[in-house]
Amino acid sequence: MRLKDKVCIITGAGGGMGLVAAQKFAAEGAKVAVFERDELAGQTATNDIVHNGGEAKFFQVDISNEQQVKQAVAQTVETFGKIDVLYNNAGVMPSADNSVVNTSEEVWDLVMNINVKGIFFMTKYVIPEMEKNESGSIINIASFVAEMGCSVPQDAYTASKGAVVSLTKSLAIQFRPKGIRTNAISPGPIETPLLMEWLVSDEAAKKERLDRQPTGRFGKPEDIVNCALYLASDESDWTNGANINVDGGITANYF
Ligand SMILES: NC(=O)c1ccc[n+]([C@@H]2O[C@H](COP(=O)([O-])OP(=O)(O)OC[C@H]3O[C@@H](n4cnc5c(N)ncnc54)[C@H](O)[C@@H]3O)[C@@H](O)[C@H]2O)c1
Repeated sequence: MRLKDKVCIITGAGGGMGLVAAQKFAAEGAKVAVFERDELAGQTATNDIVHNGGEAKFFQVDISNEQQVKQAVAQTVETFGKIDVLYNNAGVMPSADNSVVNTSEEVWDLVMNINVKGIFFMTKYVIPEMEKNESGSIINIASFVAEMGCSVPQDAYTASKGAVVSLTKSLAIQFRPKGIRTNAISPGPIETPLLMEWLVSDEAAKKERLDRQPTGRFGKPEDIVNCALYLASDESDWTNGANINVDGGITANYF
């Protein structure tokens, strides 16, 4: 088992890629702390893992709320004794996020509060716990849009993911000497509710994305989680400060 007895916090573990990550990490022997704001989704994900013989506990937390994050991280340590892996997966992409010229301040703040400030709060409270053991792996989910412009804009989301990549490098340099490595994964378009709900209402955007995808398909959550498994395990001890594109090659595509 690649993650035997590793305590792994996964944010947004109630749905999409986070749910698949929680299931796969548990199957590899991890003790999973399910950090999810949706009570039903978080509890269901946790129950399923336990039902299948894995170890997991649900913490209802909105990662953009500092007090909730502080409390849930402390409770994770109380429950499992340590934190080995922080998988910052939760993120939002509201349909009202468009070009800067027609995006409201409210939408901009919503995206930044979850996608960027959420990772700030999570790392603020988890890193001191990892430092106690001089060991840890932080995995930040960014996006291929951090590197590429798009004619169907989501400017708040794009800016938020650029910030995730930059913060990843800063944490990697600061904390690797203390045993903590930090890496980002930049997924291409993946078949999850977050993307599909948006594309269902926009056939042109869907076709445009598939036309530019060398593999001819959207990614699956497993494509990303397999990379995260490597980053969570000791196999990635010398991988630090990387932003790994797992995108079927879309960022390598000129035409
Ligand atoms: N789906 C894609 O194509 C794609 C591509 C690149 C990057 N990403 C990124 O991957 C990550 C996961 O995306 P997904 O498609 O699985 O999303 P999703 O919407 O399917 O699932 C996200 C989960 O996070 C939870 N969540 C949202 N806000 C939260 C908060 N404030 N606190 C706690 N939990 C919260 C949701 O309840 C949900 O369970 C996100 O960071 C997203 O930006 C997705």
